Amino acid sequence: MKTKRWKVQPTKEIEPEIIQEAIKLLKEGEVLAFPTETVYGLGADATKDQAVQRIFQAKGRPADNPLIAHVSSKAMLESLIIDKPAYVDKLIDAYSPGPLTYVLKSNGSCAKGVTAGLSTLAVRMPNHPVALQLINYFDGPIAAPSANTSGKPSPVTADHVYADLVGKIPALLDAGPTGVGLESTVIDCTGDLPVILRPGAITEEEISAVAGGVISAPSSQTRSDQYKHYKPEVPLYLLDQSIDQVKEFVHQEQVKGNRIGVLGSHSFIKEIEGDDSFSLGEESQEIARNLYAGFRYFKKARVDLVICQAFSKEGLGKTIMNRIEKAANKIIS
Ligand code: TXA
Ligand code: MG
Repeated sequence: MKTKRWKVQPTKEIEPEIIQEAIKLLKEGEVLAFPTETVYGLGADATKDQAVQRIFQAKGRPADNPLIAHVSSKAMLESLIIDKPAYVDKLIDAYSPGPLTYVLKSNGSCAKGVTAGLSTLAVRMPNHPVALQLINYFDGPIAAPSANTSGKPSPVTADHVYADLVGKIPALLDAGPTGVGLESTVIDCTGDLPVILRPGAITEEEISAVAGGVISAPSSQTRSDQYKHYKPEVPLYLLDQSIDQVKEFVHQEQVKGNRIGVLGSHSFIKEIEGDDSFSLGEESQEIARNLYAGFRYFKKARVDLVICQAFSKEGLGKTIMNRIEKAANKIIS
């Protein structure tokens, strides 16, 4: 299959010919990769099971891992679910459109494949003009997981999508790099307080401040933890150690003849002399935005081992560390 790549401006209206072709694909039950503010998604008509199954095929995703239905308005969200606690309205007012996904009781409007047969549905209103225009024109929910091959890091550029899915999907809307760089926060909203199922771009503190409390589920109990996580081709070690200990570790590995890749903040990689390095920047938002490109970078670098810096788990740092811990083959402290 040939994969078309349509360049679009993230700030402007999508050109009529492109939006028409994109909508036509979705209406025909095809898949389409599109940008959101977090990561690129692989979308299909959320109400057609055949269309949704194509997402699972293209990604090689286990069929029992449910998808997020993307909506462009509160009314569209409400058209898919049964009831919604009052704190969800407050969270929608505060953070939607944005990187927050609500798990609510489904009314059955979405295809079975989206919910993987569960009675709940994950819904999100993405804060990206291209995604919002697409859903608006389509005039219905678009089911979409991250647009990577299952087991790879989520794509934050159209090149990442292309590398994983070329030949497997008919088209890709390329609006350049996404802004946030890490996936949305997923919260279960079927109880009296929201429960964090997956930490994400909206922090626990931000949710709690609006919802009047939050429950952070131990990660081993959450659905998103039942599935295999990204494990890099080159082993990744998370070093939760002092700079001197890290320097010593790198030295010992190099003595053994290993070439070391260094992943960390700009100041960290300046301190540590590896054989190759990738700077994530300095501020936590910058680190979040660059992390997945960093994971992907070392695949092509000629190194035997990648060491990654441990960051503070304050605020967004908690999500950053969640993703690094899941990717790490070993954590040394
Ligand atoms: O930022 C994001 O969330 C991106 C963009 C494309 O929107 N999407 C994304 O989708 O990361 P995905 O499929 O890679 O992750 C969705 C997560 C999975 O961990 C899935 O298990 C969980 O949401 N999920 C979906 N429906 C659920 C449900 N009904 N109950 C519990 N967890 C659910
Ligand atoms: Mg994913």
